[in-house]
Amino acid sequence: MNIIGVEAVIYGVTDLEKCTRYFTDWGLIPVSSDETGAVFETLEKTTVQLRNADNPSLPPVHCDMPFFEGSCGREVIWGADNAETLAAIGNELGKDREIIEAEDGSLHTRDDAKNSLGFCVTKRTVAKETHPTINAPGNSMRINQPAYGATPSLASPVRIGHVVHSVQGDVVEKAKFYLDRLGFKLSDRIGKGGCFMRAGGSHDHHNLLLQQLGGGYGMQHSAYEFRDFDQVMQRGLYMEEQGWQTHIGPTRHTLGSNYSWYMWTPAGGLCELISDMDVLDDSWEPRHVDPAKAGPPHSWYARPEQKGLKFGIPHD
Ligand SMILES: [Fe+2]
Repeated sequence: MNIIGVEAVIYGVTDLEKCTRYFTDWGLIPVSSDETGAVFETLEKTTVQLRNADNPSLPPVHCDMPFFEGSCGREVIWGADNAETLAAIGNELGKDREIIEAEDGSLHTRDDAKNSLGFCVTKRTVAKETHPTINAPGNSMRINQPAYGATPSLASPVRIGHVVHSVQGDVVEKAKFYLDRLGFKLSDRIGKGGCFMRAGGSHDHHNLLLQQLGGGYGMQHSAYEFRDFDQVMQRGLYMEEQGWQTHIGPTRHTLGSNYSWYMWTPAGGLCELISDMDVLDDSWEPRHVDPAKAGPPHSWYARPEQKGLKFGIPHD
């Protein structure tokens, strides 16, 4: 079976207007909205869905992270490549847990860490993006042409790249649900408490990270992939101009290599602007990184004062 990646992230929120403003500022494209919720999409039509936190259609709250104030990610929907894959997922997971089939044919259940998740046949498209070209000494890829990033612009994210859940207990054991039963592949491990995984139909370094974060549990962040570094920078700076708060960023990760900018979201936890993540194929050998030897999780910090911050913990 092939799951190709995150199809949708569903948030239950206590301030729909504020969250609508946040994701509009984030560059997502509005699809629909009313007093009960709002739907946004990326260029490739992966979606963010906001619903009022007390909407009975939402899965139960599963979050005790320090940022949790009533709003949080309630469900991640994974996109299957076709109907046969979706049926195979239902058959597999139906062996040991309840599967709810919605009117639209999507399937819904919980993973081994009690995170709610769903599956549907993907509606993802392929965005016709221009590709950045970079001039480096000895390797000039752009001749007689200004760089794309030299023009101020505010791009929309291409797609939702990954989600991160904080889980309790044995993370490796919890990851087996995805690795052994849903066809995910292990990309890297860090210490005892982190498993980076990519969906079977994806080559991204990770579409899912299960991680122990301060003993808490719940959806910690969702990440949105932009075409290039300039787009990350221009969007992140714009978000700050609108009054939204940065947690860590701009920066670049060591594992996965992606440029990164984490910002707090009123929908609960963090949203991350990313670009230029590592692309892996089946010849990749997962690394097992010792955090005590690995040093900081970022290769550089544009704002050095962020070096000492605990990831995902609110700060002044
Ligand atoms: Fe991330």
